[in-house]
Amino acid sequence: MIYNILVTGGAGYLGSTMVPDLLNAGHKVTVLDNFMFKQATLNHVCHHPNFSVVKGDIRVESVIAPLMKKADVIIPLAALVGAPLCSLDPVGATTVNHDAITLMLKHLSREQIVLMPTTNSAYGTGDENNHCTEESPLRPISQYAIEKVGIEKELMQHPNAISFRLATVFGMSPRMRIDLLVNDFTYRAVYDRFVVLFESHFKRNYVHVRDVSRVFQHALINHEKMKGQIYNVGLSDANVSKKELCEHIQKQVPNFIFIEAPVGKDPDQRNYIVSNAKIEATGFKTEFSLDRGIGELIKGYTMIRNSLYGNV
Ligand SMILES: NC(=O)c1ccc[n+]([C@@H]2O[C@H](COP(=O)([O-])OP(=O)(O)OC[C@H]3O[C@@H](n4cnc5c(N)ncnc54)[C@H](O)[C@@H]3O)[C@@H](O)[C@H]2O)c1
Repeated sequence: MIYNILVTGGAGYLGSTMVPDLLNAGHKVTVLDNFMFKQATLNHVCHHPNFSVVKGDIRVESVIAPLMKKADVIIPLAALVGAPLCSLDPVGATTVNHDAITLMLKHLSREQIVLMPTTNSAYGTGDENNHCTEESPLRPISQYAIEKVGIEKELMQHPNAISFRLATVFGMSPRMRIDLLVNDFTYRAVYDRFVVLFESHFKRNYVHVRDVSRVFQHALINHEKMKGQIYNVGLSDANVSKKELCEHIQKQVPNFIFIEAPVGKDPDQRNYIVSNAKIEATGFKTEFSLDRGIGELIKGYTMIRNSLYGNV
C-alpha cells in the first residue's frame, strides 16, 4: 500500500535516513522541519517527484493542520531531543515535545495512522535484575523523559497509533549526531584515543539508525496487526555496559584507551537490559550489529571533524 506520509523533523538524524527509504518504497513524503541546525540533509532527495518540503514550526496550528489533512500517515520526529538540550531550553522543550504533539493529536482523524518514536530512557534501572519489557514501570527523571512518557500516554488513546520505544540510536546519517553514546565514544576513540567513563557498568540498549528506518516501514506493512501497541526497539544482542561498548570499539581502534572516574551522572540513571521480544514476535529482525555500526562510524569520521575553531 502506498501512503501520503507527513514526516515532521524529517531533516533530523532519524528523518534524513528514513525519508529516502520511504521514497524508495514508493510513498509520497512531505517533510515539515524548521531546520534549526541549518542542516541541508535532504538535498539528495529533492529530485524525487514524490518529495515535498515545508519550512515551518510544528507548534503553529496554521502550519501543521493543513499538512495533516493531506496525510494518511504521520511520523512525528520533530523534537528538542535529549535531556541536555531540554535543560538548555525547558520552555521550548515543553512546547515542542509536549504541547505541539497534543496539538497534532487534536487534528488527527480516527483513520489516520501515527507512528511515533518515544524513548526507553524512562525505564531507569528496570527490575531487581535490571530487566525491562513494555510492561515495566516507568520512572522518568529528566524533563525530556517525563514529557516523552506523558505524550506516549496521550498518543496511545488513538486507535491507529504505534509507539516505538527506541534504544539509543547509532550509525551514520546525513544529519549526524555525535552526542549519541556509540557515535560519541567512537568519535573520541578516533580523534582523542581516550575516554573517561562514569557509571561504566551501566547497561544500555542500542539500535542502528537504518534499523529504525526499517522498523517504521515494517509497521506500515503490518499496521493492522501492530496498531494500538507499544514496542521496544533495540538489538537484543547489544544490552551492553559503557565499558563493554568501549571494548567493542577497541577491537576496531586498538590504541583506544578508556579509564574510569566519577566525573558525571546520567540524568535518567539508565541501567537496564531491555527485552525486544515483542517487536521480534511481529517478524521484525534487526540487520545492523553494533560492530558493523562502529566500523561504519570510523569510516564516516574520516569526513567529519569538529574543527570550526582550529586549523586541523
Ligand atoms: N536518536 C535517538 O537515539 C532517539 C532515541 C529515541 C527517540 N528518539 C526520538 O526520535 C525523534 C527524532 O530524533 P533525532 O535523533 O532525529 O533528533 P534530531 O535533533 O536530529 O532531529 C529533530 C528534528 O526536528 C526539527 N525540529 C525541532 N524543533 C522543531 C519545530 N519546533 N518545528 C519543526 N521542526 C523542528 C529539527 O530541525 C530536526 O531536524 C525525536 O522525537 C526523539 O525524541 C530519538
